[in-house]
Amino acid sequence: MKPSKPVILTGVRANNDIHIGNYFGAILPIVDMAKRRSSDFDINLFIPDLHSFTTPIDHSKLYDSILNNARIYTAAGLPLDNEAIHLYRQSRVPAHSELAWILDCFTGFGEMGRMTQFKDKSHKFLDEIDSKIHLPTSRQKAQDIVHTGISVGLFNYPVLMAADILLYGATYVPVGDDQTQHLEFTRDISERMNRKFGDLFIVPKPVAQQHQFFGNDQGLRIKDLMNPAKKMSKSDDSGKGVIFLGDEPEAAHKKIMSATTDSLGKVQYDRDNQPGISNLLEVLTLVRQDAGKDVSLEQTISEYAGMERYGDFKRIVADEVAEFLANFQARLAAVDDQAIESKLESSEHDMNIVANETLHRVQTAVGLRR
Ligand code: TRP
Repeated sequence: MKPSKPVILTGVRANNDIHIGNYFGAILPIVDMAKRRSSDFDINLFIPDLHSFTTPIDHSKLYDSILNNARIYTAAGLPLDNEAIHLYRQSRVPAHSELAWILDCFTGFGEMGRMTQFKDKSHKFLDEIDSKIHLPTSRQKAQDIVHTGISVGLFNYPVLMAADILLYGATYVPVGDDQTQHLEFTRDISERMNRKFGDLFIVPKPVAQQHQFFGNDQGLRIKDLMNPAKKMSKSDDSGKGVIFLGDEPEAAHKKIMSATTDSLGKVQYDRDNQPGISNLLEVLTLVRQDAGKDVSLEQTISEYAGMERYGDFKRIVADEVAEFLANFQARLAAVDDQAIESKLESSEHDMNIVANETLHRVQTAVGLRR
């Protein structure tokens, strides 16, 4: 089974604590894209479960969180009966790991060391260790933490990502800004292999063309409620600035009510001077759209322009966010797990065929097969 149409591919991350920033900024746009493009493209949405323990995790929760990811996409509207959309787990297509190993051997150590995400994550981890290790700590214990914390897997994570993409000859790969360097690497390694071994891989489009294709305004970026200068992120320590999809609606209501605002006392959209209020206007627009209302940010802004009592405005936002969560959680509870299992299995069957074909071609090129 060779894909006859060009391929759009993206990894949908496996973790349990997905927040509304992920939902509106990444999940919904992917679901919309899949629905819109599936007549002209094969859409490969895979769960990068092998990527999920490049940094330490609780392994007893991994299996559930993998399935939960598929359930969240389904609750967000991903149609499971669309044959052009493939939903699969990376770990169930062994060719990903096999190709990653081969590509590892053509990847420079320095090349990986320069990846900014690796540098950021490993430095952050080292800082964390510094703050956790109070002397005297045994040398052995310190070593265990350091060695299991910054793994070789974290280091060569981009190589596995390249394999994820190249196995299927994907041309378009929607990723966030933090992943564009990895996409550039995928282009580099595929061009390198093609020069050495002849035309082995389809090279994904350059980042600029990806942006053109997917549109530059990659969804709105929801900010942290406590600190609206930064993006909402699950690594926020207190959790007060972040609304998780699994939050109790009342708890989310409280978080909105205590969101940071400003002292100007006027509801208006001004990202620079009133980031908190502007963020709430965006959140309000998004939850209304999710409820099926046809409203734009501009309409929401003009509806509340000039309102002076922030408490009243926040209550409106908080009510609608709570309602959104209750609705979403009901949709999630209604997801048919059986349908997801059979979608995963049938996609995995098909994807093994496609991926193995590429893998065999590579194995032949490097001399492992005749
Ligand atoms: N690294 C991506 C992320 O952190 C997930 C991912 C893994 C991915 N492999 C991929 C995305 C291949 C696109 C294509 O979000």
